[in-house]
Amino acid sequence: MRTALVTGASSGIGAEIAKRLDSLGFRVILTARRADRLEALASELENPAEIITADLSEREDCFRLYEQTKNMNVSVLVNNAGFGVIGDFEETDLDRELSLIDVNCSAVHILTKLFLRDFVRKDRGYILNVGSSAGLMPGGPLMSAYYASKAYVVSLTRGISEELRAKGSRVSISVLCPGPVETEFNDVANCDFAVKGISAEYCAEYALKGLFSRKTVIVPGLGMRLGAASVRLAPDRLVLRAARKMQSKKLES
Ligand SMILES: NC(=O)c1ccc[n+]([C@@H]2O[C@H](COP(=O)([O-])OP(=O)(O)OC[C@H]3O[C@@H](n4cnc5c(N)ncnc54)[C@H](OP(=O)(O)O)[C@@H]3O)[C@@H](O)[C@H]2O)c1
Repeated sequence: MRTALVTGASSGIGAEIAKRLDSLGFRVILTARRADRLEALASELENPAEIITADLSEREDCFRLYEQTKNMNVSVLVNNAGFGVIGDFEETDLDRELSLIDVNCSAVHILTKLFLRDFVRKDRGYILNVGSSAGLMPGGPLMSAYYASKAYVVSLTRGISEELRAKGSRVSISVLCPGPVETEFNDVANCDFAVKGISAEYCAEYALKGLFSRKTVIVPGLGMRLGAASVRLAPDRLVLRAARKMQSKKLES
């Protein structure tokens, strides 16, 4: 049976991607820290799912997750787990940001490398890294570490995608770059969006369409696509100022 591994499947975008993959006939391996949430989701799915709890801020858990799943015939990897920290860089908590780098960057890096090697050997497989529109920006004042982490995910994915293309590989890697999505993200980051977000369900559906049509950068929503294009044209200085104003509204609310 076709199998997909989804990290951060206990809520939001990851849970919706897992549901969608299940409805497409995949057996889904659900992973996150909250086992009760994963069990509740598994009970809703049509196909029998596997549950593996892991804290992806711990390097050993990333390697353990790979060891436990490498022989499960995984052909789709979704690196979705992630979170944000908001505030002035001078004041935000260093340990929390180091954990953010571990989850948003190191875990994505480790799992991408390990599964990519297997996928390339078999010459099949899809990797979806969940970045953010934040990763397409020149920086993110008042959320600096989060924006930097997502820029890492976007850059890593684009680089690997070109390597695969040049080798004529059938393996495909994509990065999902949504703007605001209605999930638990804000509760975790302790902020509110300045603009209304899209639903996690729509985001997941759009993401998988892009993934299976081998799109490298997937930006759901016309508004966000126009926004991303205008960021490329506008001077970085202006974009950074506008981003700071938007982030400070989140802090005020
Ligand atoms: N919501 C947005 O506006 C938005 C926009 C662009 C990109 N994104 C990205 O989308 C992805 C999913 O976020 P979301 O919006 O769906 O937020 P969410 O509802 O808060 O979901 C985050 C998921 O990540 C998991 N996670 C967090 N820390 C983890 C850790 N240490 N180990 C294992 N799993 C961990 C959480 O599971 P547990 O807590 O159970 O471990 C949860 O399943 C993130 O990468 C985020 O940066 C979100």
